[in-house]
Amino acid sequence: MVRTRCDRTPVWAQLRAAFDANGRQMDLREAFAQESARFQRFSQQAPHVFADLSKNRIDTATEALLLQLAQECGLEAHRDAMFAGEAINNTENRAVAHVWLRKPASAHVNIAQAATDFVAAEQAKVHVTLDAMLAYAELVRADAAITDIVNIGIGGSDLGPQMAVRALQAFAHPGKRLHFVSNVDGHELAAVLKGLKAENTLFLIASKTFTTVETMANAQSAKAWFLAQGGTDTQRHFAALTTNVAAAKAFGISTTFGFWDWVGGRYSLWSAIGLPIAIAIGAGGFRGFLAGAHAMDEHFRTAPLAQNLPVRLGLLDVWYRNFHGFTSRSIAPYHSALARLPAYLQQLEMESNGKRVDAQGEALAYGTSPVLWGEPGTNGQHAYFQMLHQGTDVVPVEFIVVKKVRHDLAGHHPMLLANAVAQAQALMLGKSDAGGHKHFTGNRPSTFLLLDDLTPESLGALIALQEHRVFVSGSLWGINSFDQWGVELGKVLAKDIEPRLASGDVTGLDGSTAGLLALLRK
Ligand code: F6P
Repeated sequence: MVRTRCDRTPVWAQLRAAFDANGRQMDLREAFAQESARFQRFSQQAPHVFADLSKNRIDTATEALLLQLAQECGLEAHRDAMFAGEAINNTENRAVAHVWLRKPASAHVNIAQAATDFVAAEQAKVHVTLDAMLAYAELVRADAAITDIVNIGIGGSDLGPQMAVRALQAFAHPGKRLHFVSNVDGHELAAVLKGLKAENTLFLIASKTFTTVETMANAQSAKAWFLAQGGTDTQRHFAALTTNVAAAKAFGISTTFGFWDWVGGRYSLWSAIGLPIAIAIGAGGFRGFLAGAHAMDEHFRTAPLAQNLPVRLGLLDVWYRNFHGFTSRSIAPYHSALARLPAYLQQLEMESNGKRVDAQGEALAYGTSPVLWGEPGTNGQHAYFQMLHQGTDVVPVEFIVVKKVRHDLAGHHPMLLANAVAQAQALMLGKSDAGGHKHFTGNRPSTFLLLDDLTPESLGALIALQEHRVFVSGSLWGINSFDQWGVELGKVLAKDIEPRLASGDVTGLDGSTAGLLALLRK
């Protein structure tokens, strides 16, 4: 597989020239006036997700050049290498194969090859573990004595399950309360424990590595609390979700569900890490979640690049970041159940693509990951949309809207939908005012993602869409989107500082760190 960095392709200079000639000035209002079919031309239906890209600063010629860029970078070969289980995570020499977790059993490679073939051997394990995990989820759902499930995990072992459990609350078992504890800040665990009884609680210790200090500290405290409350049956009240089953057993947890090093932490909600989701929505619901993601995988794997939604979104991301110079993207889910989606997408995009060197370690001369941020609509409108409409920076907004309503409060949903559409319209159209203060420049881009309904299937597809668009931009940027060395240094330094807080030893520390330590010790 040959990958070429975007800035080393012949078409990169053409894109620069096109941007200088037309792209920079492009006006969306004029574009709609010139092309009556612009909405149809720049929108598409992908599995479970309709996307309107027409309010983006892109035209047919630019899109053609961006598609050429994808080809010259070797995007298709890179994508196929991921699906084939090649070790595309080169700094950790690992395959990146979360897509295998979503394949139906019948689509896996021949299990008879398992003895000889790495791919077959790994794929053969997926459904054995999935079946066991879902059977356990059903047991928990049927066990009326277990009313509270506490997931202890952080990063990918928290954000995905937490986001999905909230998103799918309309499908959740009414007798189970799901809690998520991630922070090493004891206030969080203490607040959750306050309302619990040991005999009614199941702790899920979720950690790919089973070494993450926050999770280990919370797990130790949860176990101590459980024993102090008179709990004895740890086998019944603790389960571990991890690739490091040996460490979980050493910790004293005998109920374990494993996964594999080819599942990245931020791509792990499809694996045993998804157990809280399965407990909430049941085995059938979880299989639907996987099926929705698989439908999007197939779209990404097989659709021609020009009609491939993750590709089109990823190309836009590169166009905005590297030509328009936009440094952030605001996520606007117009559905309160998607409240944790922006936080989930932050890890997905920023941990994956927040890199300053290419996959070979050479420094990049262009920007990579944008900053992602956002809150559900309409709340964001009354907080930071002022800046989106009239600020000095242009921030592309991604609206995520659900057509079907699942409550019976009259009038609310049309109001919500109208606000989403109106905000996108206002960003683009703007408004003239000679006085200045009430002037909206307009021409501010947005994407509108529309789901018919928020179901396990459509959520699966939406998340897989986001995973693949991050793959596309990372692929063009020439980086390894699947490692996260940037989180290591702070962890190492915290280990050095913690004993100093107790001892007061500031030898060798910079002045600010020493000063803060002294203050904290007072
Ligand atoms: O913060 C870095 C990180 O490694 C994330 O990539 C990961 O999702 C998180 O920590 C938790 O890791 P683990 O699941 O191994 O506890």
